[in-house]
Amino acid sequence: MNKHYDILIVGAGHAGAQAAIALRQQKFTGTIGLMGNEKYAPYERPPLSKEYLAGDKPFERIMLRPESFWGERDIELLTGHRVAKVDPMGQQVTLTSDEEVGFGKLIWATGGSPRMLGCPGNQARNIHAVRSRADVDKIMAALPTTENVIVVGGGYIGLEAAAVLTKLNKKVTIVETLDRVLSRVAGETLSRFYENEHRAQGVTIELEAMVESFETNDEGMATAAKLTDGRMLAGDMFIIGIGIIPETGPLVAAGAAGGNGVDVDQHCRTSLENVYAIGDCALHSNPFAGGALIRVESVQNANDQAKVAALDIMGEECEYNAVPWFWSNQYDLKLQTVGISAGFDDCVVRGDPENRQFSVVYFKDDKVIALDCVNSTKDYVQGRKAVVEGLELDRKELANPEIPIKEVGLV
Ligand code: APR
Repeated sequence: MNKHYDILIVGAGHAGAQAAIALRQQKFTGTIGLMGNEKYAPYERPPLSKEYLAGDKPFERIMLRPESFWGERDIELLTGHRVAKVDPMGQQVTLTSDEEVGFGKLIWATGGSPRMLGCPGNQARNIHAVRSRADVDKIMAALPTTENVIVVGGGYIGLEAAAVLTKLNKKVTIVETLDRVLSRVAGETLSRFYENEHRAQGVTIELEAMVESFETNDEGMATAAKLTDGRMLAGDMFIIGIGIIPETGPLVAAGAAGGNGVDVDQHCRTSLENVYAIGDCALHSNPFAGGALIRVESVQNANDQAKVAALDIMGEECEYNAVPWFWSNQYDLKLQTVGISAGFDDCVVRGDPENRQFSVVYFKDDKVIALDCVNSTKDYVQGRKAVVEGLELDRKELANPEIPIKEVGLV
């Protein structure tokens, strides 16, 4: 290959693609290489566990831009390549194919790889992740011969996959290690609500349960998940949604500061000169988490950090301080989240979860820090200001869903 790009973007997901788009929007005229290890042009990842898996949206409809877009913007798409080594001083990367690619600046946007279970039987062909188009294509291809699905992990990936597969008339069991689903991202009210909804739809949820091994047959297929309490859950498909591991190996090996991700400052610069990191893999101090060092795994974070890196490269003043937001669709439930609820010390429920339309407003030190809104877009829209400004809203008024959030008084 032996190429050189003024800007080399490694990772062609939401973050990488948006960085290339933002650079051209900022009238960057140098060369841009957008490199990804998948063979497809950039596509949206959230529909993979929703409309794409359901068969409601074909791949063409989840592409981030039409195929022709990249060439028209003079962005060179380098699909099917994986970086093995980064040489920050020599300003070049080495691919797994041993080819070398030079850069003026490097934007690392590699996201994460799905964490898998390291137990016996874990290599069986019917154990799937839900992270890439290839993962979901394999699941979809196996659906006609699938009846029982065991989903390991009760995060959004597990719950969304369970919802789609249930609608496709599969018998689904969720295995979650902790004592409630969604514990990483939400409070107990939301967890219990989603557990009830899934159970009402026929999903079995096993809490505080752990897979010890998979039973496999002669064809290399798993036939059951064995739990640590000895129970066997028979299935013909197994889906693992237990989080991601940030893809930062080559960058950290090159000396970039980092641990659970690559450390970046408010401009998305890493500790290495001319190297930026953005998206799921970028560990940053987030003002909506009280300045804690976190990675935010969302489309919002990918897009907003991409814009910050692009502006910084263009010499424009810009710091990353965007409010986090997120969504999840399960059955006919639309969840919209704004802010980060982790570490909350109080919460107010607006509306009755029984009615399947309610919001949870999270507080810390008397200030609103986040909202989870179920089928309540109005609360989501109006609550955003309270999160951005850390308003001290009156909790009694807030608990009355008849009072719009924008009319709730301050204490
Ligand atoms: N067995 C069962 N459950 C487990 C295990 C395990 N060995 N390990 C972790 N879990 C549970 C966690 O307790 C958590 O409830 O799996 C869930 C994983 O949830 P997340 O960390 O949110 O990860 P996931 O749902 O896989 O989402 C990964 O995709 O949709 C995006 O925003 C999401 O970026 C995130 C990514």
